[in-house]
Amino acid sequence: MPQVKIGVLISGSGTNLQSLIDNTENGYINGRITVVISNRKDAYGLERAKQHKIDAVYLSQKDYESFENFNNAIIDELKAHNVELVVLAGYLKILTAKFIDVYKNRIINIHPSLIPAFCGKGYYGIKVHEEAVNYGVKLSGATVHFVDEGADTGPIIIQEAVEVSYEDTAESLQQKILKIEHKILPLAVKYYCAGKIQIRGRKVKIEE
Ligand code: GRF
Repeated sequence: MPQVKIGVLISGSGTNLQSLIDNTENGYINGRITVVISNRKDAYGLERAKQHKIDAVYLSQKDYESFENFNNAIIDELKAHNVELVVLAGYLKILTAKFIDVYKNRIINIHPSLIPAFCGKGYYGIKVHEEAVNYGVKLSGATVHFVDEGADTGPIIIQEAVEVSYEDTAESLQQKILKIEHKILPLAVKYYCAGKIQIRGRKVKIEE
């Protein structure tokens, strides 16, 4: 099977990106990251990409007349790199309907909670963990899902839970969950690249 060409969108430090770089380089994933795109110039993930000789592109919304045009520029960049699968790894902007349509069922996101808890508009970064800790949940976790037109609403591929202890802070919970993220995001991408994922309505079937 030929390697799947992957484009990764980021806005920040890119530890999830790093897990994808490592797992494509070591052959765990039958894929290759052909481009990393960030909407923030100072995103450390861009450095990670450069260190691994992956094209690293910074695109700022400010340079475009509209949000639509900005998204079209990202699509153009992905196409220029022959991207077949788009992974959102801590990308903090929404995508246009056109973007989602162009890459229908080919966009994967990682979210640091057990969807449908603590997700949707406004739930990003440390905020997700603050809400979970303040609510007093005993379990949280991470979710890898396909992206549809809603916020964190697409079909779920993998979830893994972690216990939340009485002593946990938003920061300690974030660290616990990141460890899970670095495991289940590469696993979901591995399944995708091996052609083992089928989507039926809201439900995802994985052939092991
Ligand atoms: C992760 O918690 C991810 O679930 C969320 O944004 C964070 C990105 O972290 N979407 P990093 O940039 O991969 O370290």
